[in-house]
Amino acid sequence: MKKWEVQDSVKNAFLNPAAAFALGAFCGLAIGMLCMPFSKGIVIGSYNGSNNKGIPRRRGLYYRCRSIRIIRKEEFVMNKALRKAIIAGNWKMNKNRKEAAELINALKPIAADKTCGVIICVPFTNLETALSLTEGTNIEVGAENVHFEKSGAFTGEISADMLTEMGVKYVIVGHSERRQYFGETDETVNKRTTAAIEAGMTVILCVGETLAERELGITEEVVAKQVKVALHGLTADQVKNIVIAYEPVWAIGTGKTATAEQAEEVCAFIRATVASLYDQAIANGMTIQYGGSMNEKNCAELLAKENIDGGLIGGASLVAEKFGVLLAEASK
Ligand code: PGA
Repeated sequence: MKKWEVQDSVKNAFLNPAAAFALGAFCGLAIGMLCMPFSKGIVIGSYNGSNNKGIPRRRGLYYRCRSIRIIRKEEFVMNKALRKAIIAGNWKMNKNRKEAAELINALKPIAADKTCGVIICVPFTNLETALSLTEGTNIEVGAENVHFEKSGAFTGEISADMLTEMGVKYVIVGHSERRQYFGETDETVNKRTTAAIEAGMTVILCVGETLAERELGITEEVVAKQVKVALHGLTADQVKNIVIAYEPVWAIGTGKTATAEQAEEVCAFIRATVASLYDQAIANGMTIQYGGSMNEKNCAELLAKENIDGGLIGGASLVAEKFGVLLAEASK
């Protein structure tokens, strides 16, 4: 082909609309690919909420991350809003029967209009009273511990079947006071959790590091091990009946609360650990509480965090009005 013939065919290509469009598209694609590493890219889709990273509420096509991706609507529905916030009282070894009845009667009208989950975990001797006084209300009753065997020579212990037969649906397992004073280990926590889940109960599983562990910088290792061992052998379906309470040991009953940032950081880490063991959907759906000197004054800041879905409350659960403030905050 002669030089003028080549020039002519290029000129014709520009005059031909189809060829011009193809050339334009090719150039656009090439420029786009060159710029991709530096741009925030394009996302095609729509969503009605914010995601974990705080991307704001928006609809329609928008521009966002580092690569072109098609997103599904659900991906950006706010995970926190999908989870049930639960405030659980842990009465520990407090309240005789008379005092328990007074506290529950004071709590009933306060809890009645709250939309968060409301649980009171009471000493074994108060279970009967608590169950009968809360019948027909939105207050659920839990025990503070459970043994892993169904029955047998285990003086002083209570089995999951004994609890469910009474109508108790919730139980705290692995509280740091059990670990610290009663020789509870990650392995026995796993056995108790498994027994309670197999009996159809919902477990509030407590994990948390000591002050020495935090100062050594091994909080994540400690908490990951506690979560992994406790959940060992449980299926994804069974894990749906587990609530994890992150309770740094140094904050329990000491008046020293973890800052909202510290609590959020570990709760997010626990969620990531659950995702690594099961999947992201299970992790996103799991209620993860904070516990440790949480009270009517500091609850708003803690409960506002993306990964904190409620609290396990000791001291402040023993006074109806204080507990009521926590319920109100978690119901917002
Ligand atoms: P606290 O107890 O609120 O009194 O610190 C919490 C817990 O032990 O669950």
